[in-house]
Amino acid sequence: MSGSAASGQEQANGPAAAPVIAIDGPTASGKGEIARRVAERLGWHYLDSGALYRVTALAALRAGIALDDEAALAALARELPVTFEGARIMLGGQDVSDEIRRQEVGSAASRIATVGAVRTALGALQRGFRRWPGLVADGRDMATVVFPDAGLKVFLTASVECRAQRRYKQLIEKGFSATLPALLQELCERDARDSNRSLAPLRSAQGALVVDSTQMTIEEVLASIVQEHHRRNG
Ligand code: DC
Repeated sequence: MSGSAASGQEQANGPAAAPVIAIDGPTASGKGEIARRVAERLGWHYLDSGALYRVTALAALRAGIALDDEAALAALARELPVTFEGARIMLGGQDVSDEIRRQEVGSAASRIATVGAVRTALGALQRGFRRWPGLVADGRDMATVVFPDAGLKVFLTASVECRAQRRYKQLIEKGFSATLPALLQELCERDARDSNRSLAPLRSAQGALVVDSTQMTIEEVLASIVQEHHRRNG
């Protein structure tokens, strides 16, 4: 995370007054990469909220906690020993940045994300990342639930085929095995679960800038978001 020093006025207002850009979208829509680069461009902090769901899922899998054991999952989420060291994500001091990207961890994350007490615990953790000079947060409910007062809300999407291709490339580059048909099916299932759950379902927030990146380059998506931010803030 990076950022210029906050002014006395900003510090007096406290971290809860720091500006937020919330970027939501389905799995493999590219929101992580885009959010990170928007943060870099503005010199703001960055929060990958999905990583917190993934770390919780990994910790549950390791501890043998059933993915529908609400009380045990909530206790785990409340006490999660997670820290960010630059771009690396640590669980109890161990670097789990690559492991949490595994397909089965993502699938488990999508399941525990339907548990209300887990969402409450992780929501509080996420709000703690808000600080000056600003925060770019990506996830599913950043604009609708966690930061409803975000100055800019973005809903970033792409066709499911395009997202499966991107995820396939990512996994192969990291040395994981994957097949395109299995990924496509997995993404469709994840989309359905994330969009149809009763708690904080994936939705485009009211007033959100909707960006369909299927036919766009990363640079074009980045430019559209940064331009909109500057347009709104003069
Ligand atoms: O963005 P991702 O694929 O890393 O997220 C993993 C899972 O976590 C995803 O299936 C849904 C859940 N999630 C969520 O419910 N709310 C968020 N703000 C972020 C992720």
